[in-house]
Amino acid sequence: MAATEIQRKPVAQPERRQPDPNAVIEFRGVSKTYESGDVGLENATFSIARGEFVFIVGQTGSGKSTIMRLLLKEHETTGGRIVVAGRDLSEIEDKKVPYYRRNLGVVFQDFKLLPNRTVHDNVAYALQVTGRSRKEIRAKVPDILRLTGLATKLHNYPDQLSGGEQQRVSVARAFVNHPPLLLADEPTGNLDPETSIGIMQLLYRINRTGTTVLVATHDSHMVDRMRRRVIELERGRIVRDEADAMYGRRGGGRDLSTSEFGALMRGEPAPEPQRMPKDPFDEVDEAWR
Ligand SMILES: Nc1ncnc2c1ncn2[C@@H]1O[C@H](COP(=O)(O)OP(=O)(O)OP(=O)(O)O)[C@@H](O)[C@H]1O
Ligand SMILES: [Mg+2]
Repeated sequence: MAATEIQRKPVAQPERRQPDPNAVIEFRGVSKTYESGDVGLENATFSIARGEFVFIVGQTGSGKSTIMRLLLKEHETTGGRIVVAGRDLSEIEDKKVPYYRRNLGVVFQDFKLLPNRTVHDNVAYALQVTGRSRKEIRAKVPDILRLTGLATKLHNYPDQLSGGEQQRVSVARAFVNHPPLLLADEPTGNLDPETSIGIMQLLYRINRTGTTVLVATHDSHMVDRMRRRVIELERGRIVRDEADAMYGRRGGGRDLSTSEFGALMRGEPAPEPQRMPKDPFDEVDEAWR
Protein backbone atom coordinates (compact mmCIF):
# COMPACT_ATOMS: atom_id res chain seq x y z
CA MET A 1 0.00 0.00 0.00
CA ALA A 2 1.39 3.41 -0.92
CA ALA A 3 2.54 5.73 1.84
CA THR A 4 0.33 8.55 0.54
CA GLU A 5 -2.73 6.42 1.05
CA ILE A 6 -1.74 5.78 4.65
CA GLN A 7 -1.47 9.49 5.28
CA ARG A 8 -4.92 10.07 3.87
CA LYS A 9 -6.74 7.50 5.97
CA PRO A 10 -4.75 6.62 9.04
CA VAL A 11 -7.47 6.71 11.69
CA ALA A 12 -10.80 6.43 9.92
CA GLN A 13 -9.95 3.05 8.39
CA PRO A 14 -7.48 1.31 10.66
CA GLU A 15 -7.91 -1.93 8.71
CA ARG A 16 -6.14 -0.27 5.78
CA ARG A 17 -2.95 0.67 7.56
CA GLN A 18 0.27 -0.91 6.51
CA PRO A 19 1.18 -4.09 8.39
CA ASP A 20 3.24 -3.62 11.52
CA PRO A 21 6.43 -5.62 10.83
CA ASN A 22 6.90 -6.47 14.52
CA ALA A 23 3.35 -7.63 15.03
CA VAL A 24 2.45 -11.26 15.33
CA ILE A 25 -1.25 -10.37 15.68
CA GLU A 26 -3.00 -7.38 14.18
CA PHE A 27 -6.69 -6.59 14.55
CA ARG A 28 -7.69 -3.69 12.33
CA GLY A 29 -11.18 -2.39 12.95
CA VAL A 30 -12.42 -5.92 13.60
CA SER A 31 -16.10 -6.52 14.24
CA LYS A 32 -17.99 -9.71 14.80
CA THR A 33 -21.75 -9.78 14.82
CA TYR A 34 -23.11 -13.30 15.28
CA GLU A 35 -25.97 -14.57 13.17
CA SER A 36 -28.25 -14.14 16.17
CA GLY A 37 -27.51 -10.40 16.03
CA ASP A 38 -25.35 -10.50 19.18
CA VAL A 39 -22.31 -8.29 18.97
CA GLY A 40 -19.17 -10.17 19.93
CA LEU A 41 -16.65 -7.51 18.95
CA GLU A 42 -16.97 -3.98 17.66
CA ASN A 43 -14.29 -2.13 15.72
CA ALA A 44 -11.36 -3.56 17.66
CA THR A 45 -7.91 -2.36 16.68
CA PHE A 46 -4.75 -3.56 18.41
CA SER A 47 -1.50 -5.16 17.54
CA ILE A 48 0.56 -7.62 19.56
CA ALA A 49 4.29 -7.87 19.06
CA ARG A 50 6.25 -11.09 18.91
CA GLY A 51 7.09 -12.30 22.38
CA GLU A 52 4.50 -10.26 24.28
CA PHE A 53 2.47 -11.63 27.19
CA VAL A 54 -0.97 -10.03 26.99
CA PHE A 55 -4.03 -10.33 29.19
CA ILE A 56 -7.49 -9.81 27.72
CA VAL A 57 -9.93 -8.94 30.46
CA GLY A 58 -13.58 -8.04 30.64
CA GLN A 59 -16.84 -9.17 32.17
CA THR A 60 -18.81 -12.12 30.90
CA GLY A 61 -20.04 -11.52 27.36
CA SER A 62 -17.53 -8.73 26.70
CA GLY A 63 -15.91 -10.49 23.72
CA LYS A 64 -12.80 -12.25 25.08
CA SER A 65 -13.63 -15.66 23.61
CA THR A 66 -14.75 -13.98 20.41
CA ILE A 67 -11.20 -12.71 19.96
CA MET A 68 -9.85 -16.22 20.59
CA ARG A 69 -12.33 -17.86 18.22
CA LEU A 70 -11.58 -15.36 15.48
CA LEU A 71 -7.85 -16.01 15.91
CA LEU A 72 -8.49 -19.74 15.70
CA LYS A 73 -10.53 -19.12 12.58
CA GLU A 74 -13.50 -20.88 14.09
CA HIS A 75 -15.53 -17.85 13.06
CA GLU A 76 -15.10 -15.22 10.39
CA THR A 77 -15.10 -11.48 11.07
CA THR A 78 -18.05 -9.41 9.90
CA GLY A 79 -15.85 -6.34 9.51
CA GLY A 80 -12.21 -5.36 9.48
CA ARG A 81 -9.14 -7.53 9.10
CA ILE A 82 -7.08 -9.87 11.22
CA VAL A 83 -3.46 -10.44 10.25
CA VAL A 84 -1.43 -13.15 12.01
CA ALA A 85 2.29 -13.41 11.30
CA GLY A 86 1.74 -11.34 8.17
CA ARG A 87 -1.15 -13.43 6.83
CA ASP A 88 -4.64 -12.07 6.43
CA LEU A 89 -6.84 -14.74 8.02
CA SER A 90 -9.66 -14.15 5.53
CA GLU A 91 -7.32 -15.27 2.76
CA ILE A 92 -6.55 -18.67 4.27
CA GLU A 93 -8.53 -21.31 2.39
CA ASP A 94 -10.63 -23.72 4.42
CA LYS A 95 -8.40 -26.68 3.59
CA LYS A 96 -5.33 -24.76 4.80
CA VAL A 97 -6.87 -23.86 8.17
CA PRO A 98 -5.51 -26.98 9.93
CA TYR A 99 -1.99 -25.99 8.85
CA TYR A 100 -2.52 -22.46 10.10
CA ARG A 101 -3.74 -23.81 13.45
CA ARG A 102 -0.53 -25.75 13.92
CA ASN A 103 1.06 -22.42 14.77
CA LEU A 104 -1.31 -21.97 17.69
CA GLY A 105 -1.27 -23.70 21.03
CA VAL A 106 -4.65 -23.51 22.72
CA VAL A 107 -5.65 -23.90 26.37
CA PHE A 108 -9.28 -23.84 27.47
CA GLN A 109 -11.03 -23.39 30.79
CA ASP A 110 -12.40 -26.94 30.71
CA PHE A 111 -9.08 -28.57 29.69
CA LYS A 112 -10.59 -30.57 26.80
CA LEU A 113 -8.44 -33.63 27.41
CA LEU A 114 -9.16 -36.97 25.77
CA PRO A 115 -10.72 -38.96 28.64
CA ASN A 116 -9.69 -42.39 27.38
CA ARG A 117 -6.02 -41.57 26.97
CA THR A 118 -3.32 -41.30 29.58
CA VAL A 119 -1.45 -38.09 30.32
CA HIS A 120 1.38 -39.33 28.11
CA ASP A 121 -0.94 -40.19 25.24
CA ASN A 122 -2.89 -36.93 25.47
CA VAL A 123 0.34 -35.05 24.86
CA ALA A 124 1.69 -37.56 22.33
CA TYR A 125 -1.51 -37.17 20.34
CA ALA A 126 -0.71 -33.51 19.64
CA LEU A 127 2.54 -34.65 18.04
CA GLN A 128 0.98 -37.56 16.17
CA VAL A 129 -1.54 -35.35 14.40
CA THR A 130 1.26 -33.16 13.10
CA GLY A 131 3.02 -36.21 11.66
CA ARG A 132 5.95 -36.46 14.10
CA SER A 133 7.89 -39.70 14.15
CA ARG A 134 7.63 -42.17 17.02
CA LYS A 135 11.24 -41.43 17.86
CA GLU A 136 10.50 -37.73 18.20
CA ILE A 137 7.44 -38.44 20.29
CA ARG A 138 9.42 -40.71 22.60
CA ALA A 139 11.97 -37.93 23.06
CA LYS A 140 9.65 -34.96 23.45
CA VAL A 141 6.76 -36.13 25.60
CA PRO A 142 8.73 -37.01 28.75
CA ASP A 143 10.60 -33.69 28.47
CA ILE A 144 7.50 -31.55 28.31
CA LEU A 145 5.83 -33.55 31.08
CA ARG A 146 8.82 -33.01 33.31
CA LEU A 147 8.79 -29.30 32.54
CA THR A 148 5.12 -29.04 33.41
CA GLY A 149 5.56 -30.97 36.65
CA LEU A 150 3.76 -34.12 35.50
CA ALA A 151 6.60 -36.62 35.34
CA THR A 152 5.00 -38.88 37.95
CA LYS A 153 1.55 -38.80 36.32
CA LEU A 154 2.51 -40.19 32.93
CA HIS A 155 0.16 -43.18 33.11
CA ASN A 156 -2.77 -41.49 34.84
CA TYR A 157 -6.02 -40.88 33.02
CA PRO A 158 -7.54 -37.37 33.18
CA ASP A 159 -10.13 -38.42 35.79
CA GLN A 160 -7.25 -39.50 38.03
CA LEU A 161 -5.82 -35.96 38.12
CA SER A 162 -6.64 -32.79 40.05
CA GLY A 163 -7.98 -29.81 38.11
CA GLY A 164 -4.61 -28.09 38.23
CA GLU A 165 -2.86 -31.22 36.95
CA GLN A 166 -5.37 -31.56 34.14
CA GLN A 167 -4.71 -28.00 33.12
CA ARG A 168 -0.97 -28.68 33.19
CA VAL A 169 -1.55 -31.54 30.76
CA SER A 170 -3.47 -29.26 28.47
CA VAL A 171 -0.68 -26.65 28.65
CA ALA A 172 1.86 -29.41 27.92
CA ARG A 173 -0.22 -30.52 24.96
CA ALA A 174 -0.55 -26.95 23.69
CA PHE A 175 3.17 -26.32 23.94
CA VAL A 176 4.78 -29.62 22.93
CA ASN A 177 4.99 -28.43 19.31
CA HIS A 178 6.53 -25.13 20.46
CA PRO A 179 4.01 -22.98 18.62
CA PRO A 180 4.88 -19.31 18.10
CA LEU A 181 1.53 -18.28 19.57
CA LEU A 182 -0.30 -19.63 22.60
CA LEU A 183 -3.93 -18.73 23.32
CA ALA A 184 -5.42 -19.46 26.73
CA ASP A 185 -9.14 -18.76 27.25
CA GLU A 186 -9.91 -18.55 30.99
CA PRO A 187 -7.23 -21.15 31.75
CA THR A 188 -7.73 -20.74 35.49
CA GLY A 189 -11.51 -20.34 35.50
CA ASN A 190 -12.05 -23.72 37.19
CA LEU A 191 -9.09 -23.60 39.56
CA ASP A 192 -8.47 -22.33 43.07
CA PRO A 193 -6.27 -19.23 43.48
CA GLU A 194 -2.99 -20.98 44.36
CA THR A 195 -3.36 -23.54 41.56
CA SER A 196 -4.19 -20.67 39.21
CA ILE A 197 -0.92 -18.99 40.08
CA GLY A 198 0.96 -22.18 39.17
CA ILE A 199 -0.74 -22.31 35.77
CA MET A 200 -0.08 -18.62 35.10
CA GLN A 201 3.57 -19.12 36.04
CA LEU A 202 3.73 -21.99 33.58
CA LEU A 203 2.30 -19.76 30.84
CA TYR A 204 4.80 -17.09 31.76
CA ARG A 205 7.66 -19.59 31.50
CA ILE A 206 6.43 -20.51 28.06
CA ASN A 207 6.36 -16.82 27.17
CA ARG A 208 9.98 -16.53 28.27
CA THR A 209 10.96 -19.06 25.64
CA GLY A 210 9.84 -16.55 23.01
CA THR A 211 6.25 -17.71 22.46
CA THR A 212 3.68 -14.93 22.29
CA VAL A 213 1.00 -15.61 24.91
CA LEU A 214 -2.55 -14.28 25.02
CA VAL A 215 -4.58 -15.01 28.16
CA ALA A 216 -8.27 -14.19 28.50
CA THR A 217 -9.47 -13.89 32.09
CA HIS A 218 -12.24 -12.41 34.22
CA ASP A 219 -9.78 -11.54 36.92
CA SER A 220 -8.94 -7.94 36.13
CA HIS A 221 -7.97 -7.35 39.77
CA MET A 222 -5.18 -9.91 39.52
CA VAL A 223 -3.87 -8.82 36.13
CA ASP A 224 -3.60 -5.22 37.24
CA ARG A 225 -0.71 -6.31 39.44
CA MET A 226 1.10 -8.22 36.76
CA ARG A 227 3.03 -5.49 34.95
CA ARG A 228 1.95 -6.99 31.67
CA ARG A 229 -0.10 -5.51 28.91
CA VAL A 230 -3.86 -5.58 29.53
CA ILE A 231 -6.50 -5.17 26.85
CA GLU A 232 -9.88 -4.60 28.48
CA LEU A 233 -13.19 -5.16 26.71
CA GLU A 234 -16.65 -3.90 27.51
CA ARG A 235 -19.55 -5.15 25.42
CA GLY A 236 -17.27 -5.89 22.47
CA ARG A 237 -15.33 -2.65 22.58
CA ILE A 238 -11.77 -2.09 23.72
CA VAL A 239 -11.93 0.32 26.65
CA ARG A 240 -8.33 0.00 27.82
CA ASP A 241 -5.03 -0.97 26.24
CA GLU A 242 -1.94 0.17 28.04
CA ALA A 243 0.48 -1.15 25.45
CA ASP A 244 2.61 1.93 25.24
CA ALA A 245 2.12 3.43 28.67
CA MET A 246 3.19 0.54 30.83
CA TYR A 247 6.49 0.62 32.62
CA GLY A 248 8.24 2.54 29.93
CA ARG A 249 8.33 -0.07 27.23
CA ARG A 250 5.92 -1.85 25.01
CA GLY A 251 4.98 -5.36 26.00
CA GLY A 252 4.88 -4.82 29.72
CA GLY A 253 7.60 -4.49 32.27
CA ARG A 254 11.08 -5.87 32.35
CA ASP A 255 11.71 -9.56 32.23
CA LEU A 256 10.66 -11.05 35.55
CA SER A 257 11.78 -14.38 36.86
CA THR A 258 8.98 -16.90 37.18
CA SER A 259 9.13 -16.55 40.96
CA GLU A 260 8.79 -12.78 40.77
CA PHE A 261 5.83 -13.27 38.47
CA GLY A 262 4.24 -15.60 41.03
CA ALA A 263 4.88 -13.12 43.83
CA LEU A 264 3.09 -10.39 41.89
CA MET A 265 0.14 -12.68 41.30
CA ARG A 266 -0.14 -13.37 45.00
CA GLY A 267 -0.12 -9.65 45.65
CA GLU A 268 3.21 -9.89 47.43
CA PRO A 269 5.83 -7.27 46.74
CA ALA A 270 8.18 -8.49 44.04
CA PRO A 271 11.54 -9.35 45.59
CA GLU A 272 14.66 -7.65 44.32
CA PRO A 273 15.75 -9.57 41.25
CA GLN A 274 19.38 -10.02 42.27
CA ARG A 275 18.30 -11.67 45.51
CA MET A 276 15.95 -14.12 43.82
CA PRO A 277 16.93 -17.77 43.98
CA LYS A 278 17.44 -19.01 40.45
CA ASP A 279 14.36 -20.59 38.96
CA PRO A 280 15.37 -24.01 37.59
CA PHE A 281 13.06 -23.42 34.64
CA ASP A 282 15.06 -20.39 33.59
CA GLU A 283 17.91 -22.64 32.56
CA VAL A 284 15.57 -24.84 30.59
CA ASP A 285 14.19 -21.73 28.95
CA GLU A 286 17.66 -20.96 27.69
CA ALA A 287 17.80 -24.35 26.02
CA TRP A 288 14.55 -23.64 24.20
CA ARG A 289 15.60 -20.36 22.73
N1 LIG B 1 -21.82 -18.53 18.86
C1 LIG B 1 -22.43 -17.42 19.25
N2 LIG B 1 -23.65 -17.09 18.75
C2 LIG B 1 -24.27 -15.96 19.13
N3 LIG B 1 -23.79 -15.07 20.01
C3 LIG B 1 -22.60 -15.35 20.56
C4 LIG B 1 -21.85 -16.53 20.21
N4 LIG B 1 -20.71 -16.52 20.93
C5 LIG B 1 -20.73 -15.40 21.66
N5 LIG B 1 -21.86 -14.69 21.45
C6 LIG B 1 -22.21 -13.40 22.06
O1 LIG B 1 -21.15 -12.51 21.85
C7 LIG B 1 -20.88 -11.73 23.00
C8 LIG B 1 -19.45 -11.96 23.44
O2 LIG B 1 -19.28 -13.29 23.84
P1 LIG B 1 -17.90 -13.94 24.26
O3 LIG B 1 -18.11 -15.39 24.35
O4 LIG B 1 -16.86 -13.45 23.34
O5 LIG B 1 -17.70 -13.27 25.69
P2 LIG B 1 -16.60 -13.56 26.82
O6 LIG B 1 -15.99 -12.25 27.16
O7 LIG B 1 -15.71 -14.65 26.40
O8 LIG B 1 -17.52 -14.03 28.03
P3 LIG B 1 -17.20 -15.09 29.21
O9 LIG B 1 -16.35 -14.35 30.19
O10 LIG B 1 -18.55 -15.41 29.75
O11 LIG B 1 -16.52 -16.27 28.60
C9 LIG B 1 -21.94 -12.16 24.03
O12 LIG B 1 -23.01 -11.26 23.96
C10 LIG B 1 -22.37 -13.52 23.55
O13 LIG B 1 -23.68 -13.79 23.92
MG1 LIG C 1 -15.33 -16.57 27.13
